[in-house]
Order: sequence, then structure tokens, then C-alpha cells
Amino acid sequence: MNIFSGLETIVKENCPLGAHTWYGLGGAANYFIQPKTTEQLKTVVLRCRENQVSIRLLGFGSNLLVSDEGVRGAVIKLDSEEFCSFEFKDTTLLVGAGANLNKLVLDSVRKGLSGLEALTGIPGSVGGAVRMNAGGRLGDIGSSIKSITVMDKEGNIFEKEKPELVFDYRWANVTAPVILKATMELSESEPDTVLKTVKEVWIYKKNSQPLNTKSAGCIFKNPRGMSAGALIDRAGLKGTQLGGAVVSEKHANFITAEKGCSSTDVKKLIEQIQTKVKGALGIELETEIEIW
Ligand code: EPU
Repeated sequence: MNIFSGLETIVKENCPLGAHTWYGLGGAANYFIQPKTTEQLKTVVLRCRENQVSIRLLGFGSNLLVSDEGVRGAVIKLDSEEFCSFEFKDTTLLVGAGANLNKLVLDSVRKGLSGLEALTGIPGSVGGAVRMNAGGRLGDIGSSIKSITVMDKEGNIFEKEKPELVFDYRWANVTAPVILKATMELSESEPDTVLKTVKEVWIYKKNSQPLNTKSAGCIFKNPRGMSAGALIDRAGLKGTQLGGAVVSEKHANFITAEKGCSSTDVKKLIEQIQTKVKGALGIELETEIEIW
């Protein structure tokens, strides 16, 4: 019997994942599932559990490299109305995990609410951003999060609030497989003031990062007090090419995928960078991107 019988409209078997990622690379998932409602999501989670099928949540695929061999198990994407909606209540923002960060930033500018500026230009979903505490020079998403709602492997839904909920640099103590929504606390400001910061962040990124290329943003975490990009640059690796994968000339912590690039090329280049930076500068770089 098909383990997802009755759910055929939301389950695709042997589904290529490349089109769901910014890199556009990698193989297929055994199951690609887009639940419409929380109830349906719970059914999916329980069926996976009963049948020992592993679960992965896919956001906008902007910080992700999918292996050429593909992914065993189920990949779930929360992109229906129920998971993507958001609502501002005074200075509080209630937002679904599938919502688009850039849309939130723009809406908060219109409303003159401050707190999301640091997320400008991050092409991610709220769920993905919370999971890895996405951010930049001005801060991260964790600092404006009050609580999140998650679903565990048994399909139970519960809320996790600060101080039990902890964020650190590109890290959050969230172990439940599914983030459903978040409550964020913003502060009152002026639309012009918020817009000014948002514009500054945009211009900074446009000038320093290869934004219109196939990439996954920064590949490595910054070692404490240092920039991984600057270290890779110092090791002389800008422009290094392996197959179709290239260390960006604009920002060395980006690997862009050029024509004919495979996921394996990117992985091998990541290893090469780690080895060379360790050899030249004695520093171990840890990946920031998710590799499936
Ligand atoms: N630098 C170089 N060469 C390079 C890249 C950077 O010398 O090739 C130097 C810059 O000139 C600057 C310093 O390194 O003096 C820091 O660079 P940058 O301001 O670009 O910041 P970063 O630490 O490299 C971080 C985040 C980015 C985020 C930017 C801006 C990490 C790993 N990276 O980069 O996040 O956009 O700040 O806020 O934390 C991402 O997470 O995917 C990402 C791109």
C-alpha cells in the first residue's frame, strides 16, 4: 500500500529538487510534499513516522545545496496560504513559517516598524531563517523573535518561548522537525527611518556580494571575530574554479554555479577551500549552508 494514500494531490514521488533551490543543482527527493493545512501536515508527519521515512523541511532553498544523489525520505514545503500568511497587531508580528522575509521587511517599512532591517535582501522563508538564525551585520532574526510554534515527530504542536528558546550566531536550539509560525516583537519608528536603513543594507550587499548569480549566499560561518570571506580572499582563492563551481571574485565566501556545474563540484570546492585556508592560515572553516 502506498504510504501516502489519500494524499496524492499533495505528494510528488521522485521529485527533482534543483528547481526548488537557488543553486538549481542536485537530485530528486523520494517524496516532495506540499500540505495545504496543519491537519494535513500532521497526517504527513505521522505517516512518515509510522513508515520510518525521514523528514526534511524546505524553505526557499536559498541556503541549501542538494547532493547529486538526491535525498532519501520526504521533503516538505509549507507554501500554502495557511503557512504563508502574516498579520501585524500593533508592534507584534504573527507570521507563518512559509512567509517571505523580503515581503515582511517591506511591510514593516510601510508601517514604520523597526526590527527587521537586518533581514533586508535575505531571500528566505521565516521558517528557514529562524532555524539558522539568519542575519547580517546589523543583527539577526532571533533578536526580534518572541516565540515560535513547532510540530514534533509525533505531530504534537507546541510553543517555545524565550528564554527557553535560544539564538546564537547562525544557530537556534530548535530540534522539532517543523517550525509552523513565529511571533515577533518590533518597535515603533518612522517609515523614512526604517527605509533609510533598509536601503543602506541593500546597497551594501549589492556592492559587496554577487547577488544575480546562482549561489547559496555565504558558504562558511564566520569564525569568531573574523570574516570567512576575508580569510578565503587572503588565502588567494578568489576565482578558483572546480568544474562549474567558482569562488566569487566579488565576495570570496560565495561559490557561484556556472554552466555545467554539479553539486559535487560545489562540494569538492568547499573541501578545497577548507584545506587551503587551514594550510595557509591555520583556521578551520565550518559550512553555514545546509547540505542534503
Ligand atoms: N572581505 C574581503 N574579501 C572578500 C569578502 C569580504 O576582504 O572576498 C572583507 C570585507 O572587505 C570586509 C569584511 O571582509 O572588510 C567583512 O565582509 P562583509 O561585510 O561582506 O561581511 P561578511 O562577514 O563576509 C556577513 C554575513 C553575510 C551578510 C554580510 C552583510 C556571514 C557568514 N556572512 O558577511 O551573510 O550578508 O555580513 O551583512 O555571517 C549569508 O549568511 O549567507 C550572508 C551572505
